[in-house]
Amino acid sequence: MNTLKIKETPINYNVVKNKISESGLKNVGLATIRELVRLVNEIEEETGDKFIRMEMGVPGIMPPEVGTLAEIEALKKGVASKYPMIDGIPPLKDEIVKFVKNFLNIDVNRNSCIPTVGSMQGGFAAFLMISKLDKTKDTTLFIDPGFPVQKQQISVLDLKHEAFDVYNYRGEALREKLESYLSKGNISSILYSNPNNPSWICFTDTELQIIGELANKYNVIVIEDLAYFAMDFRKNYSIPGEPPYQPTVAKYTNKWLLLISSSKSFSYAGQRIGMLVISDKLYNEEYETLENKFGNPKFGYNIIYKILYSLSSGTSHSPQYGLYAMLKAVNEGKYNFVDDIKIYGERAKIMKKLFVENGFNIVYDKDEDELIADGFYFTVSYPGLTGNELIEHLIYYGISAISLNITGSDRHEGIRACVSQTSKDQFSDLEYRLKKFNEHHQQK
Ligand SMILES: Cc1ncc(COP(=O)(O)O)c(C=O)c1O
Repeated sequence: MNTLKIKETPINYNVVKNKISESGLKNVGLATIRELVRLVNEIEEETGDKFIRMEMGVPGIMPPEVGTLAEIEALKKGVASKYPMIDGIPPLKDEIVKFVKNFLNIDVNRNSCIPTVGSMQGGFAAFLMISKLDKTKDTTLFIDPGFPVQKQQISVLDLKHEAFDVYNYRGEALREKLESYLSKGNISSILYSNPNNPSWICFTDTELQIIGELANKYNVIVIEDLAYFAMDFRKNYSIPGEPPYQPTVAKYTNKWLLLISSSKSFSYAGQRIGMLVISDKLYNEEYETLENKFGNPKFGYNIIYKILYSLSSGTSHSPQYGLYAMLKAVNEGKYNFVDDIKIYGERAKIMKKLFVENGFNIVYDKDEDELIADGFYFTVSYPGLTGNELIEHLIYYGISAISLNITGSDRHEGIRACVSQTSKDQFSDLEYRLKKFNEHHQQK
């Protein structure tokens, strides 16, 4: 801490300093999310002060009751003693088919709708499977910034990846940039999240079309991570069977996997259940390499009966009933899931305003020429500080976030703030702390 000279920080300066030094972290800005969580927990415990916790993307609201009740009922019926089908219980598969039709306007066969242990497992299974298809195509291309754990998965699997920050390549500019990677011939798959973690940019239809067209041209599989399904609150994607629909690359190409998480859209993170939806074309696609290795050439068959079987032999039984009941209620128009989570957008609007009023800038601020949405995350910077420095400085002010550095972003000045754990009654604290921060850091 060279630049922070003032010690009247909202959180006891010496405690923070000692805790950072005890943590052994050489650079707090480069800490993983879980390391930051631990550091902030310790400071909170020692000082008794509550932080504005913006480092971790956990849902901040209760799960829908319809899911909880369905799980209880399933447990009472004894599902805990039975192995679930690896490809999912039939009623859930049917509701996923309907959900995909109702909210994406895409047709899929029920075989292609598979529950996974969170989208985390869906992604891991996809990477593993795709790596076995073609030896010459051995690399996943990440359109960054992105969710760091997916790169960790690639690393754990000893696979290859390339990545670029999309910040300077929005709209038509994306075409040439993507093509510069795909034309080399080594890219097997493209992954991005939409809405994006961490920046909350949302790809426009023009951009999704470009991704789809180039995937077709270069025979590349698209893994579209919809972890924040329908959470671009600028549009109302919540009415079953009616436009507008959640935008998707599935409209523009036919070899795709969708990772639809229930963690944020249904506040169901603890049950670790997500949906892996595979296009019918890819599900039925045959590969000689798979035939040679597994005795069956089909992509869909192998991802279920070889990959998911090996990973966890299916997804825990009762959450499948919980998700089934929630999707059924949503598909029948009895439960509007977006109404429950809109609160994140309302919070973001106020919190962004507080940051901007106190000298911060929004880093990823636009989708082509439209201002970005208010949602689960936003990104900010402060003049004269790098993102890593900013993370460390903010800790003295009782605010925790993560640096964009660990997300593949080139905007090294930025940090990601998650709104989910900050309630309305903390806004005045946030405002006070940001004011103090600005007072202490303003360039004279
Ligand atoms: C972009 C992205 N993908 C995937 C996940 C993981 O989702 P799940 O909880 O369903 O495993 C997250 C969770 O934060 C995420 O932000």
